[in-house]
Amino acid sequence: MTQTIFEKSVEGRRAFVAPELDVPRDEEALPDRFRRTEPPRLPEISEPEIVRHYTTLSTKNFHVDAGFYPLGSCTMKHNPKLHERVAGMAGFARLHPLQAPSRAQGALRLMWELQQALAEIAGLPHVSLQPSAGSQGELAGVLLTRAYHEAQGSRRLKVLTPDTAHGTNPATVTMGGYQVVKVGTADDGGVDLDDLRAKVDDDVASLMLTNPNTLGVFDRNIEEISTLVHDAGATLYYDGANLNAVMGRARPGDMGFDIVHYNLHKTFTQPHGGGGPGAGPIAVSERIEPFLPRPQVVKRDDGTFNLDFDRPQSIGRLRGFQGNFGVFVRSYAYILSLGADGLAEASETAVLNANYLKARLAEGRAGERLPVAFDRHCMHEFVLSGKPMKRELGLATLDLAKRLLDFGFHPPTVYFPLLVDEALMVEPTETETKESLDAFADAVEQILEEAERDPELAKNAPYTTPVRRLDEVRATRRPVVRQPLGS
Ligand SMILES: Cc1ncc(COP(=O)(O)O)c(C=O)c1O
Repeated sequence: MTQTIFEKSVEGRRAFVAPELDVPRDEEALPDRFRRTEPPRLPEISEPEIVRHYTTLSTKNFHVDAGFYPLGSCTMKHNPKLHERVAGMAGFARLHPLQAPSRAQGALRLMWELQQALAEIAGLPHVSLQPSAGSQGELAGVLLTRAYHEAQGSRRLKVLTPDTAHGTNPATVTMGGYQVVKVGTADDGGVDLDDLRAKVDDDVASLMLTNPNTLGVFDRNIEEISTLVHDAGATLYYDGANLNAVMGRARPGDMGFDIVHYNLHKTFTQPHGGGGPGAGPIAVSERIEPFLPRPQVVKRDDGTFNLDFDRPQSIGRLRGFQGNFGVFVRSYAYILSLGADGLAEASETAVLNANYLKARLAEGRAGERLPVAFDRHCMHEFVLSGKPMKRELGLATLDLAKRLLDFGFHPPTVYFPLLVDEALMVEPTETETKESLDAFADAVEQILEEAERDPELAKNAPYTTPVRRLDEVRATRRPVVRQPLGS
């Protein structure tokens, strides 16, 4: 097992030695009560060892710079390196979050312009950048819905979510103090309109939906859904995690949505996964605007920028400071470097790539053992069912996923959405070449072919990764997040 950097530490060893202080030491500058009595416990290590340590660690994890990462619903697309250069500029990277607005005009301008761009993309006029994850954007949306209804003098108890919804949707609804009511899925993969009609009443605060949904299909009845929801006095919430399929082509605001969250770290690029910083801004319609989180980044009449705290109906703050600023810089760079046409082209290519890979996987063994769950033209992702594969070869979707690692591919999302038996959810993204997509389809075919001869091969996979098969249930329920010293 790789030693921790502390285990590699040797007393007195240094990577860097600061020059002697050549100005008089001001003992009064920092009062005693703020001084440590003991020096901090830091690893003592040479520079080459530090470089080797972190380089080795970085190669142990599968990442999008290492290979194809078709993790459905997560949009693991290439993160252009230009964004890293821009985000690393001293004026952005070294800006203190408590800097007075008058001294942080450039950062506020970037945030304001990002708000404007996101508003245009969603087709909704007002944006708050504050939420720091898609799920926190959802929470903001539920709290905004509550504030909106309360301001109308109405108390509603339920929020509807389709049975295809991402797990964070019902979890957020519960956190927001509402009761979750599930709406079924029709044969074409869209919302079951009859079920919706039966459930949407004046006790419903909102319907949370993503379009395309998590089956990767666009709900053609969205206008009717919007009318049903609005006629009942409820809000329509858009889970923007799937915006990568439609940005620049269709706008949730035009479909009738009142509140939208974006996953900047997915659609608008940012290294994510493994808990990297994210951003889940929200966009809202006029009627929801008074309740947006406080403060808002605003542009004054004289062209300068400020933070507006004077928002009496606001739901309040969702976090300290304004959000993960580095994510804003990267997303801003992404939007400006692609432009409106480039964003539309990215969506089109994401959809084309998904349909190409879906068609490739419909050929040969995969077509029989791993059929597509809802066989329609898909958007940026599609869902396969490993039910026949399990029945005929004894291979679970998890086994296939693990064996893909040996072929150099990150597995697609497995066992989600829940309504598909042995689900495998594939999102190739627009940044992959035809060659990568073909190689992935060939690998699936080869795994199925070898499983016909020897199913045990996949069942014991992976063989080539730094760790073999893990006890995932135990790791989730009883995570050990500190490596014991000496192990
Ligand atoms: C459809 C959908 N909604 C919401 C989320 C939540 O986003 P986040 O992981 O940023 O909280 C995700 C991502 O995991 C998602 O795929």
